[in-house]
Amino acid sequence: MNIAYLNGKYLPIEQAKISPLDRGFLFGDGVYEVVPSYSGKLVGFKPHLQRMNEGLEAIGIKTGWSEKQWLDLCLKLIQDNGAGNLGIYIQISRGTYESRAHRFPEVVTPTIFAFCFEIASPPVADKSRVKTYTVSTARDIRWDRRDIKSTSLLGNVLHYQQGVEQGNQETLLYNDRNELTEASSCNAFIVKNGTVITPPLDHQKLPGITRQILLDILLNDGQIPVEERAVSMQEVAEADEVWITSSSREIAPVVAIDSVPVGNGQVGDVWLAAQTLFCANRFNY
Ligand code: PDD
Repeated sequence: MNIAYLNGKYLPIEQAKISPLDRGFLFGDGVYEVVPSYSGKLVGFKPHLQRMNEGLEAIGIKTGWSEKQWLDLCLKLIQDNGAGNLGIYIQISRGTYESRAHRFPEVVTPTIFAFCFEIASPPVADKSRVKTYTVSTARDIRWDRRDIKSTSLLGNVLHYQQGVEQGNQETLLYNDRNELTEASSCNAFIVKNGTVITPPLDHQKLPGITRQILLDILLNDGQIPVEERAVSMQEVAEADEVWITSSSREIAPVVAIDSVPVGNGQVGDVWLAAQTLFCANRFNY
């Protein structure tokens, strides 16, 4: 049974109901988080919570919840759902109001919803077992505040679907300057001549927690050079390796872009080194 949380109650997810007047439903007026947990151990809880709080602040939603309340919510859902390999989804919308009006209601209680879904076992640093990705490319059509993890995901959904319809599992996105932003549900990295390169954080991309953890691990280790700088799509096309990162995938190797092999079309050695470090350190965050 899938036990969810909705506005103060833990209940089977089929019984979790919200009003169609909820602003999350009407306007996509809310933020969300996905925190991975393996056998009861969370990965990156603090940075995930910090990003969620920054998103709430950016759109003017106040929950009054403390870090302990959020942690207790996650731990209770993990226990109630079997403590296996779980993604914990948390969504906060501005709440339900009596009518549909764009302006923020003066008095409204945020809707807090959370549930768990099964995710694969923690990724392993093994070239023969890792799930590889092929991706499409597209000019990024999303709004100008992609740094907010908003539930308004239409642009992301359309981009993801573009990839699927072309037989791929993701879509790499680029801005008007032909520079890589991210992918529709992941951040993106390239490797060239042994250096790991990723575009810097700005409003054009989500500050991914996997991205943040990976950069931290690589910098602490100090063996692999890292650069945060603009990456042209030309560089993406000429890269030795391309990776996409997200909480449930960790570091996922991209082996073809628009049907053209990345590098030699195989999973690379720098990926192996990076995922090995990630496996050794994921629970330190
Ligand atoms: N996606 N960029 C976008 C647009 C994303 O939606 C995500 C995450 C990421 C990676 O962020 P993180 O490393 O914090 O998971 C980057 C989540 C998992 C989702 O929407 O399901």
